[in-house]
Amino acid sequence: MTAATAPTAGVDGHGDDGPRDRLTLAVLVGSVRAGRLGPSVAGWFLDRARQRPEWSTDLIDLADLDLPADLDGGGHTAALAARIGAADAIVVVTPEYNHAYPGALKTAIDTVREQWSAKPVGFVSYGGTAGGLRAVEQLRLVFAELHTVTVRETVSFAAVHHQFDEHGALTHPDRAEASAAALLDRLTWWARALARARAEAPFST
Ligand SMILES: Cc1cc2nc3c(=O)[nH]c(=O)nc-3n(C[C@H](O)[C@H](O)[C@H](O)COP(=O)(O)O)c2cc1C
Repeated sequence: MTAATAPTAGVDGHGDDGPRDRLTLAVLVGSVRAGRLGPSVAGWFLDRARQRPEWSTDLIDLADLDLPADLDGGGHTAALAARIGAADAIVVVTPEYNHAYPGALKTAIDTVREQWSAKPVGFVSYGGTAGGLRAVEQLRLVFAELHTVTVRETVSFAAVHHQFDEHGALTHPDRAEASAAALLDRLTWWARALARARAEAPFST
């Protein structure tokens, strides 16, 4: 694979030279399938995060990235690593495929190395009856290996095809709003705590 042009990070709020009073939340869209619902689910969660003054957001859509499955370091590998490296927390938006998470998401996870370390990771999942929670349980095992802290609070959409209208709006938002608020509260606590810890002492792997 040849090196690809780095996609625009899309972080709103501050750049690398700006003040660090705001935290950066990377929201990773884990499905790349044609006709996917992932962008609607991620868009809904991003709107919640953007209402929080403490967060700047970076939407990372895996469908926009060239991440070689042979992990040769080409394509958008460096750009993705930089964006995860710049994040204080990551929320993975994942569907459930055959009781697991999408293969493209695993490639993305494996593509990035130490940039994951000592960061909180939260999940917004969706699917059929289990709401993607089987995918999330597996992702917790994977992210433990990467020295992340996975956040217990989750947002989960069961029967997801009935939950979003044609404009990407939730038909019954109350429960999901409460779950998203709880997830963002917890991410804020962990992101602040771990940002302080990383500043005090580099995390070695
Ligand atoms: C290949 C495939 C396998 C699926 N397997 C499951 C499953 O095991 N459990 C489940 O609840 N939903 C399953 N679904 C339904 C998806 O979770 C649902 O279609 C979801 O919208 C997929 O995310 P996407 O639209 O972002 O691709 C599956 C869908 C696909 C395409």
